[in-house]
Amino acid sequence: MRPARALIDLDALRHNYRLARRLGGGRALAVVKADAYGHGAVRCAAALEPEADGFAVACIEEALALREAGITAPILLLEGFFDAAELPLILQHRLWTVVHAPWQVEILERTPLPGRLQVWLKLDSGMHRVGIDADAYAATWHRLQALPHVQLAVKMSHFARADELDCARTSEQLETFTRATAGLPGDTSLCNSPALLGWPAARADWARPGLMLYGVSPFAGPHELAAQLRPVMTLESKVIAVRELPAGEPVGYGARFVTAAPTRVGVVAMGYADGYPQFAVNGTPVAIDGRPGRLVGRVSMDMLTVDLGDQPQAGVGSTVQLWGDQVPAAQVVAHSQTSAYRLLCAVRRVPLLHVG
Ligand SMILES: Cc1ncc(COP(=O)(O)O)c(C=O)c1O
Repeated sequence: MRPARALIDLDALRHNYRLARRLGGGRALAVVKADAYGHGAVRCAAALEPEADGFAVACIEEALALREAGITAPILLLEGFFDAAELPLILQHRLWTVVHAPWQVEILERTPLPGRLQVWLKLDSGMHRVGIDADAYAATWHRLQALPHVQLAVKMSHFARADELDCARTSEQLETFTRATAGLPGDTSLCNSPALLGWPAARADWARPGLMLYGVSPFAGPHELAAQLRPVMTLESKVIAVRELPAGEPVGYGARFVTAAPTRVGVVAMGYADGYPQFAVNGTPVAIDGRPGRLVGRVSMDMLTVDLGDQPQAGVGSTVQLWGDQVPAAQVVAHSQTSAYRLLCAVRRVPLLHVG
């Protein structure tokens, strides 16, 4: 069997959730959209359910997959509903929905329902992606409050630049939120992972941590709180061939690496079709049988090559960790023209093995 696999440490996931919840000082919805950022949403939600206040996903399809798997905790639809036909299903499955656009308000106004829909009303406080404009927020709130089938639960917004700790934009968004929601009752929800870790002033009733649950820092540099996160995914495979090359020999497509000295090159069963970043550069860290090593040559669809360097014990069958407890995912990100979010979400084809 092909040795590529992703180990998912559920104890680490629970540890990270507890840290997020403690930092937030209130309740926390674990964001498990996009198959829990590539970690397997059903298994991750089941592992967190005994202690999680609820979950957040992008859309009803993701929520129903969790319900079908037996998850009964609250689930918030972060993009809300896409058409009126979803509304009865949302009610039936006891989902909560974000309302982020005037057209959704209009649908709610013309669609009577047999029960009360839990609504989180989203403000565009400056990210300018989705959300109700600040000057229309209070009026929208009152329009929804007038509907007998709507239970307005939470005022929410989302930060665009909370990962930039010296950027004033997060404070400005916070001020816009405070102003636009002044006098309106109900809970508030603002924080994603970088806000929870880096912007204490933004902490509110409900946090929405995603990336940090999976043990990866949202920040480019070192951060004291982020250092307490434990990596959840370990992506690993094995060496399946070894080349003993003299100096001056090219390795792989495009000769992106040429040996400067006699070199033992290990071929690893892992490629960009598994989600390893295609544009990781020469020198991207790996761990070979637990010791530091480096990627050399261009990543292929199903294989990549590593310098076995001064590790005479390494050979066919050696375990190569691509990221995890020995190789921080953030270091791979720094070498790969990608983001931590995309790195994790891109993992596919490899079996996910959940432990803990
Ligand atoms: C509305 C909303 N809240 C929370 C999150 C979680 O963000 P993060 O993964 O940075 O914690 C996301 C992720 O995209 C989101 O869209």
